[in-house]
Amino acid sequence: MFCQFPENFIWGVATAAAQIEGVAFEDGRGASIWDVFSRLPGKIKNGGIPDICCDSYHNIERDVALLRELGVKAYRLSFSWSRILPDGIGKVNTAGIDYYRRLLTALKESGIQVNATIYHWDLPYALQVKGGFGNREIIRWYLNYASILFDNFRDLVDYWVTFNEPIATYVGHAKGFFAPGLTDEKYARQCIHHLLLCHGEAVKLYRSMQLPGQIGVVVDVWKHYPARPDNADDIASAMMNNEIEGFGMFLNPLFLGGYSKELTAYMERTGLTPKTEPGDMDTICQKLDFYGLNFYNGLYDNADEQHAAAEGGNFQDRPEQHLEAVYDVLHMLVDKYGIDIPIYITENGVAQDDGPDREALLKDEERIAYVSETLRHVRRAMDDGIDVRGYYLWSLMDNFEWSAGYAARFGLYYTDYNNLRMIPKKSASWYHDVIANNGFRISAN
Ligand code: NOJ
Repeated sequence: MFCQFPENFIWGVATAAAQIEGVAFEDGRGASIWDVFSRLPGKIKNGGIPDICCDSYHNIERDVALLRELGVKAYRLSFSWSRILPDGIGKVNTAGIDYYRRLLTALKESGIQVNATIYHWDLPYALQVKGGFGNREIIRWYLNYASILFDNFRDLVDYWVTFNEPIATYVGHAKGFFAPGLTDEKYARQCIHHLLLCHGEAVKLYRSMQLPGQIGVVVDVWKHYPARPDNADDIASAMMNNEIEGFGMFLNPLFLGGYSKELTAYMERTGLTPKTEPGDMDTICQKLDFYGLNFYNGLYDNADEQHAAAEGGNFQDRPEQHLEAVYDVLHMLVDKYGIDIPIYITENGVAQDDGPDREALLKDEERIAYVSETLRHVRRAMDDGIDVRGYYLWSLMDNFEWSAGYAARFGLYYTDYNNLRMIPKKSASWYHDVIANNGFRISAN
């Protein structure tokens, strides 16, 4: 059976600045919170630091050639705030602007659409020192940064994303295993409130500038289900993971205009309610042009089992795959959150553990199986009428996987970190054919 996608379906791949660019301290770039956090002992697996990554800063032609080889219609990338504004505010680094203009122009000349994220986890360290997202001034700092991007790249970006996976900011302030590495839930809740305001104000600014293109947001959904549907503890665990510490924290205010009743009650009970001002919720809940879903897995909670802490916008420690959950998640976006705008799958992919056997890593059958299984369930949701317009595979090439450093390989291309050569894995030619045929054959087993 052939799993066919509509003619104008957008096939793409995704990356992010802090994970591929490298050149952390040259050409005027300032430090980001990940540059600092990664240097704290024990924070990143095997002590990986993002100073070089894939050296994409020096390799625009190489990266664009890979994209052309795959035949993608769109590329999802992000801007590095501290490359544009080394101190977060104030002086603009013209070398940073030039770099992105060269990259975006090369993409345009190749006929590749651009989906660009304004903020993908890498706050300038200079702003963290001033309180970062916990300081309401962040709204002014973020708007200044966004307006520089809008001004400079208005002709080169097709889709703007205000924030990628805001959960990372929560995890970084409440759980400590992402930058900036704090463990203060009250502060984290305040940060999230300010982050959501940054989003809303940026959308208002974008509308007032009457820019071409579209603007949206990317929220990952790791939906939790009770492993034993009648077990009260499993139900409570899934509720906690969805509403209090998961996607509900963002989707409710973004699309329904306020924190959910579960989250509101929880924050009141625990004294964690953030400071708000009148009108905040109206600012946050802006009409968007599209919604980006990052989907990696569905999770079944058994309250009697312990799971390691590596959750929250990253990969999980649970081996079972519940990729069929994407079908339910897409329905939930429409039914529960009233999302009536086009949806893009802005990330989906699977990691391989690094190891010495390169040949084995290049034969990534498991990635092909994972992606085709997810796509099959996405297609089912589309058959029900859900308006999914595109799919971006994470990621173009193996890169700096945050706390997992270089130990988790997500790429269609294998990155040889000794010489920065990119070697296609089996999945690269498979994905090329998917794009060329607008679909793929579903294997019988
Ligand atoms: C979430 C993030 O957006 C991306 O930066 C990360 O590398 C992937 N998912 C995989 O964990």
